[in-house]
Amino acid sequence: KPVAILISGRGSNMAALIDAAAETDFPARVVLVVSDNADAKGLIVAQQVGIATETIERKGYASKAEHEAAITAALRKAGAELICLAGFMRVLSAGFIGDWRGRILNIHPSLLPSYRGLDPHKRALDDGVLIHGCSVHFVTEELDAGPIVSQGAVPVLGDDTEKTLAARVLGVEHRIYPLALKMVAEGLAEFAGGRVRFRHQPQ
Ligand code: GRF
Repeated sequence: KPVAILISGRGSNMAALIDAAAETDFPARVVLVVSDNADAKGLIVAQQVGIATETIERKGYASKAEHEAAITAALRKAGAELICLAGFMRVLSAGFIGDWRGRILNIHPSLLPSYRGLDPHKRALDDGVLIHGCSVHFVTEELDAGPIVSQGAVPVLGDDTEKTLAARVLGVEHRIYPLALKMVAEGLAEFAGGRVRFRHQPQ
């Protein structure tokens, strides 16, 4: 399955997806990386491994709708059938999400439905939770609320800071995002009626 990755920054999850997809038996291949930020470090990382990139900044367009139309045009031209959001710092419109219904994945650094939105690590530490983690979910209109494909958990340690906790979670993000993409690309996890339908691997 041809997949496009949308980024805004560092792109470490993007790199994990690209690495996984480079394996010959992986059911998806990365056809395009789109960044809404020309300074995103991830653009350089993708180019270094020969992945096509496009920078499509919001400021180049009169409206959000035109910006998203430009992103859609780039995705269609590249033949993308799935989209992975990987640190893409823009909320997509209902129109865009509707056009790609059931075909957009996102990774969020919390055990959803806890800590949707910004600063999940800080809020987890403030609450004193002992287990934290990350989730890959299908994107729906409500922010960080789409059905969950995969999750990973980490312990919260007594001396954790936002930084140490984020780093521990990030290591797990890099494992579960490729796994979730694999399941979706193979049809083992499918968006159906607002939920995820899981299938077993055919024997
Ligand atoms: C990750 O923690 C991801 O879960 C969140 O933003 C961060 C992006 O990091 N949505 P990177 O750009 O993938 O390194």
